[in-house]
Amino acid sequence: MGKFLVDGRHCLSGRVRINGAKNSALKLMVAALLGHGTFEVKNVPHITDVETMTGVLQALGVGVRFDSGTMQLKVSEVQGHTPEALVKSMRASVQVMGPLLARLGRVEVARPGGCNIGSRPLDIHMTSFEKMGATIDVEGDKFVARAPRLHGADITFRYPSVGATENIMMAATMARGETVIRNAACEPEIVDIQDFLNGMGAQVKGAGTPVITIQGVPELGATDFSVIPDRIEAGTYLLAFLVTGGNGTLENVVPEHMTPLLEIVSSMGAEVSVHERTITVSSPSKMNAFRLITGPYPGFPTDLQPQMVALATLAHGTSEVEEAVFDQRFGYTRELAKLGALIEPNTSTVAIHGPATLAGANLVAGDLRGGAALVLAALAADGHSAIEGLEHIDRGYEAMEHRLRSLGAKVVRVEE
Ligand code: EPU
Repeated sequence: MGKFLVDGRHCLSGRVRINGAKNSALKLMVAALLGHGTFEVKNVPHITDVETMTGVLQALGVGVRFDSGTMQLKVSEVQGHTPEALVKSMRASVQVMGPLLARLGRVEVARPGGCNIGSRPLDIHMTSFEKMGATIDVEGDKFVARAPRLHGADITFRYPSVGATENIMMAATMARGETVIRNAACEPEIVDIQDFLNGMGAQVKGAGTPVITIQGVPELGATDFSVIPDRIEAGTYLLAFLVTGGNGTLENVVPEHMTPLLEIVSSMGAEVSVHERTITVSSPSKMNAFRLITGPYPGFPTDLQPQMVALATLAHGTSEVEEAVFDQRFGYTRELAKLGALIEPNTSTVAIHGPATLAGANLVAGDLRGGAALVLAALAADGHSAIEGLEHIDRGYEAMEHRLRSLGAKVVRVEE
């Protein structure tokens, strides 16, 4: 997969156009499994997770064409045997369970293992399917779910899981009667999926609030759609400006999706100005330390936690970051320490003492957002860094090195 070679301490400036959200696009692709006809989905990011999901859909019988950010999906008949290797390589593929169970009454999905950011159980998904009348068996390393016809149910989640909210929403669109999901996740991506499903003829309301109500309908059609901007990609580039003492503008963003990040960087001294679809940020001469705790939306997104820790290494004083969503999302801090970052880990919190003098080092990305944090820290470090493990970064960032170079960074990809 190659590695990034980064020459640090070049100030970034300019404008960067943000892509469609990975965590919406992947689920919209899956939701299409419920429908019939031709879909045209715009603003789809060109990342390897989208390629993997394309492989999953094709194996299930969906025609997929993808060109310049626009994806065409042709859905007629689908089948319920998901390709094991692809499913295991991407946890989001577990989301095919809801649509396939609703449509076919039976689905087999390889059981994904733990991953680099935590154990990630699926109990909320499975117990909710059971409440809707499904039986779930674990056969070898597969989940086999069966339900001749799902029925509506009143379900209270013990935690507002994003994936479970989406899976149950999708399953309920064609179930008999009404389903209510309480303590649902409120992420903007959930609203996107509601709008997409309703475009297909579903009757879903309440997304964006903790109570979502779905009236089952007999069948669904197709729709054209444009994916919302990726608030995590946007946040990563915003932090790239700040770690290099630079300033610049993010285009094609929804600023209100990014409120917790904008509040924290403002409290650190950054100047932030927000317009309808753009955010402009300027670095202060000195950044203040901060405290944050991650949480479900509208809390601070866990997917920006590692990038914030990279920034904290440059702030004056001791910053404290608590990870309250995943149980092992600090693995990347060992790599940051190789650059000279002063980070004290605890079980669910880290203290970061700054400002540290960062110097280039050889680093290995072990997960997507941790990898992004290493890139940011390398941009801030004196001298040369090499970052391996690009297969993680490519899962969620389209052509990151090109986009950073267009802002003045010195980053190249060398193939091994
Ligand atoms: N959880 C359970 N049981 C369940 C489901 C979740 O205990 O049945 C726990 C998880 O183990 C975790 C927490 O609940 O500790 C949150 O998990 P959630 O289900 O909300 O997350 P997800 O659907 O697996 C999505 C994103 C993640 C993002 C989280 C939280 C996709 C494909 N993934 O994961 O994105 O961090 O929501 O916002 O949408 C990323 O993009 O880097 C990424 C990891």
